[in-house]
Amino acid sequence: MPAFTPPPLPSDDKRWKIVNGTMRKNGFARHALIETLHTVQSAFGYLDDDSIRFVALSLRVPLSQAYGVVTFYHYFSLKPPGKHTMTICAGTACYIKGSDKLIAAAEKRLGITPGQTTSDGQISLMTARCVGACSRAPVVLCDGAVAGEMATEPMLEQLERWAVE
Ligand code: FES
Repeated sequence: MPAFTPPPLPSDDKRWKIVNGTMRKNGFARHALIETLHTVQSAFGYLDDDSIRFVALSLRVPLSQAYGVVTFYHYFSLKPPGKHTMTICAGTACYIKGSDKLIAAAEKRLGITPGQTTSDGQISLMTARCVGACSRAPVVLCDGAVAGEMATEPMLEQLERWAVE
């Protein structure tokens, strides 16, 4: 049997690397299904057709099984999050460099906690465990694009811009 080649990442959105990292850590074994879907949920705020298909293909589980898991657990959401997503890394390196302050400032500005979306649907706030850019801590992903050495002011300015665009 030829060696299995995992499918390519769906896009160059950096969050797919986090998802892939979870699968790689588990040797692309099927038992990683729930953990991987969790990673998609926490990185993107929800799961859509493409992400479920990508995970199922990568782990070689039937698509129906992946959908079964997503619809069974209430934790998973199939609803699109806000128009924009701010993902703040809360991994150790970023935490040491003050990501908790970034999270607190974003929560205060948006009036939501991580995992939630503003009531006007503009912005979702998410956290991640490590996005693989520790040397640039603290790191945030603005709609999937890495922004390192982030400080509170520029982050809040980004949120201001997103609030209206
Ligand atoms: S801990 Fe934040 S990028 Fe690694």
